[in-house]
Amino acid sequence: MTNYHDLNINSSAPGKITLFGEHFVVYGNPAIIAAINKRISITLKSSVTNSITIRFGEEKLTLPTFRINTHTVETFSNSFLYPILKCITNVWEDLGCFSGLEVSIESQIPYGEGLGSSAASCVAIMGALGSILNKGDKTTIFESASQAERMIHENSSGADCYASTYGGILLFRPSSGNTRIKVEEKLLFLVSSTCIKHKTRDLVTKVKKLKEKNPTVFKELADSAKNICVDAKRALKEGDQQTLGNLLTENHKLLQKLHVSHPKVDELIETFMKSGALGCKLTGAGGGGAVIALLPNNDNYETLSEIRKKVPDLMLAELDYTGIQVVQNLNSEKISNRL
Ligand code: PMV
Repeated sequence: MTNYHDLNINSSAPGKITLFGEHFVVYGNPAIIAAINKRISITLKSSVTNSITIRFGEEKLTLPTFRINTHTVETFSNSFLYPILKCITNVWEDLGCFSGLEVSIESQIPYGEGLGSSAASCVAIMGALGSILNKGDKTTIFESASQAERMIHENSSGADCYASTYGGILLFRPSSGNTRIKVEEKLLFLVSSTCIKHKTRDLVTKVKKLKEKNPTVFKELADSAKNICVDAKRALKEGDQQTLGNLLTENHKLLQKLHVSHPKVDELIETFMKSGALGCKLTGAGGGGAVIALLPNNDNYETLSEIRKKVPDLMLAELDYTGIQVVQNLNSEKISNRL
């Protein structure tokens, strides 16, 4: 039986890169999403303060428990901490026996750049809360996290939450179910930030307007994106890195036609391609955000050092195969991973 007064849970979930199919996935197309080895880690402790305090670096948000309601929470909608607060609010009544919570966050995932920080936050916090509520299985965590994501931006496909919960590379198909793609070769991605934050909701709305205005053009682009996904799945399975790289670049051209790229994104892509990357694209909603480049996995990091001479601020990402991880009651002998 959990002692609620002595609760100490750590839950962490990976960010993601969208390899193929973002935006089109909102309209039922497939997408290929990979969880990466950059995580959000949340430590949750019970407290007797009658408030919820969320800490992230210098940032601190405190809300008295009597103010935990949908209306109040919306006033924090521009904060990085919003998804976490939203998730807690969604289950607060079910957590009836708590007088307060202390939540600390550590993150290796830049916020608002298409690397799934919002989904990873929702998955990590729902993993922690789920383990208290006996709803800590991956299916329930995925469902509750994606429900919260949909409240944050209503057209969310749920793809990011899926990758963050389960890890690995996923073929995400909104209508016919998701499958993991088994990859033999090690994939090495370079992730570079434009430092231009985006709001997924605004970019999804922009694409929606384009689709309504030019349904034929949108359909052509969506069909091409679908074909790219089919070819990419094959290339991933066969370990054909060059084809995979070409397809990434081809996918980026479709996103340019959707007007979700940004001059800074295109500039970075040109630099990476000239330095030997196999393929590049924006990842996620666009409008700035992050760029991903596939690097050759057999050149002793030569391409990487070439790129570093021109763009020093880079993150190297490999794939994460674990997904959500929860450890309960860190200080006592009661350590459980209920997944
Ligand atoms: O930028 P992100 O990580 O929020 O990714 C959004 C991906 C979209 O396809 C644009 C939206 C979605 O819900 O899939």
